Amino acid sequence: MDTAAVGQSFAHESAARHVDGQAVFIDDLPEPRDLLHVHLVTSSWAHARLTTLDLTACLSAPGVVAVASAGDIPGVNDIGAALKGEPLFPFETLCYIGHPIAAIAATSPAAARSAARLAIIEGEPLTPVLDIQTALDREDYVCPPMIMRRGDVDKALADAPLRLSGEVEIGGQDHFYLETHVALARPTDDGGLHIFSSTQHPTEIQHLVARLLALPQSAVTVEVRRLGGGFGGKESQATLIAGIAALLCRKTGRPVKLRLDRDDDMMITGKRHNFLLRWDAGFEQDGRLLGVDMLLAGGAGWSADLTPGVMSRALSHADNAYYYPAVRLKGLSCKTNSQSNTAFRGFGAPQGMIAAEAMLDDIARHLKLDPLAVRKRNFYAPGRDITPYHQTVEQFRLPAMLEQLEDSAELAARRTDVDSFNTQSPIIKKGLAVMPVKFGVSFNVPSMNQAGALVMVYTDGSVLVNHGGIEMGQGLYTKIAQVTAEVFQIPVTQIRVSSTRTDKVPNTSPTAASSGTDLNGMATKLAAEAIRGRMAEVAAERFAVPIDDVRFENGEIRSGNHHIGFAELAELCHLQRVSLSANGFYRTPKIHFDKKTMTGRPFFYYAHGVAATEVAVDTLTGEWKCLRVDILHDVGKSLNPAIDRGQIEGAFLQGLGWLTMEELVWDKDGRLLTHAPSTYKIPTARDLPRDFRVELLANADNPEATVYRSKAIGEPPLMLAISVWLALRDAVASLAATGARPTLGAPATPERILAAIETAGRTAT
Ligand code: MTE
Ligand code: HPA
Ligand code: MOS
Repeated sequence: MDTAAVGQSFAHESAARHVDGQAVFIDDLPEPRDLLHVHLVTSSWAHARLTTLDLTACLSAPGVVAVASAGDIPGVNDIGAALKGEPLFPFETLCYIGHPIAAIAATSPAAARSAARLAIIEGEPLTPVLDIQTALDREDYVCPPMIMRRGDVDKALADAPLRLSGEVEIGGQDHFYLETHVALARPTDDGGLHIFSSTQHPTEIQHLVARLLALPQSAVTVEVRRLGGGFGGKESQATLIAGIAALLCRKTGRPVKLRLDRDDDMMITGKRHNFLLRWDAGFEQDGRLLGVDMLLAGGAGWSADLTPGVMSRALSHADNAYYYPAVRLKGLSCKTNSQSNTAFRGFGAPQGMIAAEAMLDDIARHLKLDPLAVRKRNFYAPGRDITPYHQTVEQFRLPAMLEQLEDSAELAARRTDVDSFNTQSPIIKKGLAVMPVKFGVSFNVPSMNQAGALVMVYTDGSVLVNHGGIEMGQGLYTKIAQVTAEVFQIPVTQIRVSSTRTDKVPNTSPTAASSGTDLNGMATKLAAEAIRGRMAEVAAERFAVPIDDVRFENGEIRSGNHHIGFAELAELCHLQRVSLSANGFYRTPKIHFDKKTMTGRPFFYYAHGVAATEVAVDTLTGEWKCLRVDILHDVGKSLNPAIDRGQIEGAFLQGLGWLTMEELVWDKDGRLLTHAPSTYKIPTARDLPRDFRVELLANADNPEATVYRSKAIGEPPLMLAISVWLALRDAVASLAATGARPTLGAPATPERILAAIETAGRTAT
């Protein structure tokens, strides 16, 4: 059937507009008359008690129309996403350098900015906590400790023939979306607000703005057409920006825009959590694990934000693809005086997986065994083994996928080549590493796994879809259009996906956890099928055939010799007063999770991937090159192979940046020094592996009934980039005595690589 839309590589619906500049982002919208621009007044202490906040000089500055601080909030001053207790503006305590204290609204961005400098702020400095270890010592956490356990780990460790422990520190990461945080709030003539927000979670903006302003939720509408990237950074943190814009809009009765410039965005908003990972393992001579005891300490920043969810996902991925016969995973969410860290592609899973991979790598080196062999020996046995959160691993494609990759990437031969290269090359050393990824798909909060859609067929046969998901570059709207086209068997060009709005589909979840298509795609499919069913009835009656004989194909509706065009049938339905619009609602089946015991089935299914990465390191400078990467990824039955491939490539490069070049540096007072691209290095196209081979696993229908048997793709491939870090460690290890392990943390910048090379060299002499 040539109208089949699912499985085809359609270009991203906005690809051309992204390139020619016609795609409209919030800052491109025509500015309404009377628009006010906002600049924020922020803390220059990492920790202080605010004693004086005097904004009178700001108010009398040229162009200034209004100011706002905590006292101006008519409703509840709280924008906590997961837990309560996160004020929009602080009442009294300033918690990090960059903490917004007040906002100035003026007739131009420049006027607001200069007026903000006139604020008089006095405070009593308090001792800040600037690192994870200090927070651990003080037992100062943003949420209670979490423990995931199974079996008697103390006994398993005590009885194990061999035992090893280790520690690794992993840095955070700025999201560096191209579009910084922005919101535009307008008053409506009935006393409500219409807000354009660059958010992954319009419903949360709507609900929290209503709470801040003491308005009913129905009075606030949030609209989002597209984001210039979110990557998790706009899952919760957009509320701050939209909340301030809404507050000043309410106060002045005028439209208000708040757009953070890059420096402010980096100084004010949270990032990927840095982690301190400690592990203690008992194992057999062949590297088979017997017991695993881990501490995952995450740097939460000043407030909880999404940290409880991030920590829970870190714990549930600290097994990665490996069975731990007895296990205890402890998660401590450390309160520090920095930006409040938040969701970032992978949502804690990448940090958890690094604990598993570093542990297995170290054990293999300690035993002088091949790290790949030790990994395989510890793979889950599907149908038998259960995870640390007691979910039985059912479908598990990694052994077969790894076998396929070993073949296609000629891993055995290249391992020998790399080793012999290293014995002959005095300065350049190569490294090769292979790793699997098993990523649990579903929000780890079961109630969040729901979505709605509203599908409308017009009498000319054109179709408009609205759903709760956010387009942030990942191709969600394209896939939604494909799903709709597939249901009706009409060309994708006949489908339009409109802006996401809280007044069309209510009470939505954020677009996150890679589940945008799984959830909204399914809701859309259900809505479209409801309409198709009604249209089929009208056709059956017209043809005088049983409804089961009616088929939608090639833009027509057929039965035997009868046929009618899709548009003609839509018109006929209208004449017969048959509804051509429907809501769809979907909730993910089979999932449950008990937060207290940290057990259940949090994930509907797993996405799988394997990567093999080869690097070359210059041991005199610590510089390195990514020579070749082979990836085999399981996207189920791909809805759109081109988009899925783009997600894999982009995620891999983003992960590579995190682990090797993006370094966040704070000074001794807690001031972030790297708040612009001049000092914070993100990867570019030139950092792509020189030889980059990405394959989608063939014949890979999802055994679970997801939308057209596809699998989520947004986050899982980011974790494949851990193989780059492992390959760098492999290159460093070639300089050490056999049995010694590399000391390289992340990001593995040239400086850190050099330091690890020096340490390795000392073990060899
Ligand atoms: N791809 C692009 N181009 N831009 C983004 O912001 N975000 C990632 C991923 N891919 C992102 C992206 C993150 S963090 C998630 S959770 C998913 O997309 C969200 O979209 P999905 O659920 O529709 O895959
Ligand atoms: N991923 C992203 N966001 C979330 C999750 C998750 O698993 N759980 C709650 N919010
Ligand atoms: Mo993605 S970190 O779940 O927004």
